[in-house]
Amino acid sequence: MSTVKYIEIANIIDSRIDLGHYATGSKLPTHRALANELGTTPVTVSKAYQVLASAGKIESFVGRGSYVYENKQLSQVIRSGIEQNESNLSILQPCLTHNIKSLHSQFQNSFSQNIDPSLYAYAEGSGLLKHRDICRSWAVNYGLDKPDVEQLHLVNGAQHALSALIQLYTKPEALIAVEAQTYPGILSIANFLDRRVVGIHMDEHGMRAEALEQQCIKERPELVIVVPSHQNPTGATMSIERREAIANVILKNDVLLVEDDIYAFLNPTPLPAISNLIPDNTFHISSLSKAISPGMRCGFLRSPKLHGKKLSAFLRAMVWLPSPLLFETASQLVDSGLAFSLAEEQKQIAQNRQHLARRILQNFSLAGQATSYQLWLTLPKQWNADSFCLAAKNQGMLVSSSTYFGAGTPTVNNIRLSLMAIESEARLTLALENIANLLDASPTQYSQF
Ligand SMILES: Cc1ncc(COP(=O)(O)O)c(C=O)c1O
Repeated sequence: MSTVKYIEIANIIDSRIDLGHYATGSKLPTHRALANELGTTPVTVSKAYQVLASAGKIESFVGRGSYVYENKQLSQVIRSGIEQNESNLSILQPCLTHNIKSLHSQFQNSFSQNIDPSLYAYAEGSGLLKHRDICRSWAVNYGLDKPDVEQLHLVNGAQHALSALIQLYTKPEALIAVEAQTYPGILSIANFLDRRVVGIHMDEHGMRAEALEQQCIKERPELVIVVPSHQNPTGATMSIERREAIANVILKNDVLLVEDDIYAFLNPTPLPAISNLIPDNTFHISSLSKAISPGMRCGFLRSPKLHGKKLSAFLRAMVWLPSPLLFETASQLVDSGLAFSLAEEQKQIAQNRQHLARRILQNFSLAGQATSYQLWLTLPKQWNADSFCLAAKNQGMLVSSSTYFGAGTPTVNNIRLSLMAIESEARLTLALENIANLLDASPTQYSQF
């Protein structure tokens, strides 16, 4: 095969992508189909795909084919399905097999007795009053001062809360300040809604208050979003002092803060929410996704008193209200205490897995708390984050590159490893051992060419 031929084929595919003939996120033709069409061999097409994958134009998955790359789309970083022969270390979710039995019986109980007819109807405000009343104790248990029931809104998960707040409290082209390495779901929303994002420097305690202050002097953001506990992706957790410092900057500059506290249940002891310090400037988000089940889509949003009515009206305008049927089960889980014991058990699993992972990866630089769901690993110099992820993917391991989390400078060379999605500890051990071997290897060994 001549070198020129596969580069030529790569150029053809590339221009088809640019022209939109192969849409973003769509599956590319098989090697054989394209070889037939272009009068070449499947091996040449395969080489061309490898060139495009290295250039970040497409992505290839073992057993599933190649896809046109979707930059900054949530789906790129976080693959929720677990394919056969794949070890998924890319998604932050609870160890679901552990919760499923309890959830099955809770759902059966919820719907086996006489069902309250109001659950089938529309409700006033953003969720039934009794559900809001019970569900607020979830966030309160993990550090939030008890809000009035009018301040508590039910949402379809934390993602819904984030998108609602960004839509309602910022205009197109507005500036949103986030942690320098941030949850890609925020970048996706900003991308779709044409909001600008600025990454604020972080350290091991999360967003740095002085850096936020400097940003406010340079250009005051309309919204600041922080994840104060077990931050995604770095695992950083804000100390009480850092929470106070951030609160002071927010207050001084009179900006609105979104405190996405979805991982608060993982803290060894509850840490006070920033919302407690500046209740009139802060929206607080929590959700059952990470401790109980992401599929339930049950989240809770606490608003400042002044914003309660407006937010409730907005949520109603957008989705009427999240399903009362699901929130009935969520309320029963919270009310009976089962939600809290499941959360505690997930924290214990996370702690065991952190221990396991830190032993296997002891030669590498790791960040994250002893009970975080993830590890944030600084790659050895010879590896670039995207090439490492590609090499890992080719071996059936899905890990997430720092490219997907970056909200501007400084660029880092890390990967995020989620320790909870793989159900069996034996399989997780194997995957981590393979990752350790790959980290020690030379990228040229795994070069596609
Ligand atoms: C920081 C953060 N916020 C929000 C979400 C989305 O949560 P939910 O499933 O409740 O929408 C995630 C999920 O990974 C997350 O890490």
